[in-house]
Amino acid sequence: MKIAVLAGDGIGPEIIAQAVKVLDALRRDGLELELEHAPYGGAGYDAHGDPLPEPTLKLAKQADAVLCGAVGGPQYDALPRAQRPEQGILRIRKALGLFANLRPAFLFEELAGASSLKPELVAGLDILILRELTGDIYFGEPRGWRTNARGEREGYDTMLYSESEIRRIAEVGFQAALKRGRKLCSVDKENVLETSRLWREVVKDVAKNYPQVELSHMYVDNAAMQLVRNPKQFDVIVTGNMFGDILSDEASMLTGSIGMLPSASLDANNKGLYEPAHGSAPDIAGRNIANPLATILSAAMMLRYTFNLEAAARRIETAVKKVLAQGYRTADIHATEMRRVGTGEMGDAVVVALKT
Ligand code: IPM
Ligand code: MG
Repeated sequence: MKIAVLAGDGIGPEIIAQAVKVLDALRRDGLELELEHAPYGGAGYDAHGDPLPEPTLKLAKQADAVLCGAVGGPQYDALPRAQRPEQGILRIRKALGLFANLRPAFLFEELAGASSLKPELVAGLDILILRELTGDIYFGEPRGWRTNARGEREGYDTMLYSESEIRRIAEVGFQAALKRGRKLCSVDKENVLETSRLWREVVKDVAKNYPQVELSHMYVDNAAMQLVRNPKQFDVIVTGNMFGDILSDEASMLTGSIGMLPSASLDANNKGLYEPAHGSAPDIAGRNIANPLATILSAAMMLRYTFNLEAAARRIETAVKKVLAQGYRTADIHATEMRRVGTGEMGDAVVVALKT
């Protein structure tokens, strides 16, 4: 079982180091994992002038799974778009065909007080946002800048989904719903967009094969509102790349901190890239204060989805729950009376909890 580890930039290396600690602990218990590191994002640019250097992509293709930290930093903001760290993420998603992005918003009950919503609104929250990841306005052509007839500059992008792209993400959505609460909410903007009109029609068609799943449709603006009004109405949400980007950030806050949220991006064969849902937080990089739990939980998702090691995945998740119950908190989820710890101490605490 080979894992490509791409730590990236900002807090990436610190949080990845904690996930590696946890995986190393499992290796000592006999799990045969092989880890290989490679530069990516701004670090890729620094090393090879490219946010997704050829050797890194090669490694990612060879490996069974990819574990990523985060990318980006102010020192790269002025680079031409092709060299920007974000292009590293977008290109690796596309190159590996990682079209299904799973972003669970799950509340550890210990953190109910850290949510931006009242505890009773989020107690027991367990939503899965399934975001299509390789299509939509992120990748649609044509795109660019041009000068219009009045001599004014225009920027334009193309929102585009093919029927097969919609069908395969809808399938993943129904399958995921079957394994959970059997409710699927498809989010679109069908009242305005042609893309969404096709999206809704295809999702309805796929639904014919899943009579056990209760399907609903919701406009994205309403979904954004419902997520903060009554988030527990949702089980699985399936949506396009752009809407999913926005709604998953929103949903993350319900669980206390974006620092808690893992993600999986899967291809058709469950090869996957696993990364925290948050960014590289350059403002707090290198200060040992970032929350490593989203990355550690991403490693758990990796064991579950790519390696089919449900028991090992559970073991990590249980250990995370245990450290939270013991009162360990990084700054983002800290509350009075709790044991405030740094990134490294949180990783150590999870390793200890694995054994007990
Ligand atoms: C995410 C991020 C990326 C995205 C950026 C960094 C390109 O926001 O993974 O949600 O928009 O997909
Ligand atoms: Mg995002």
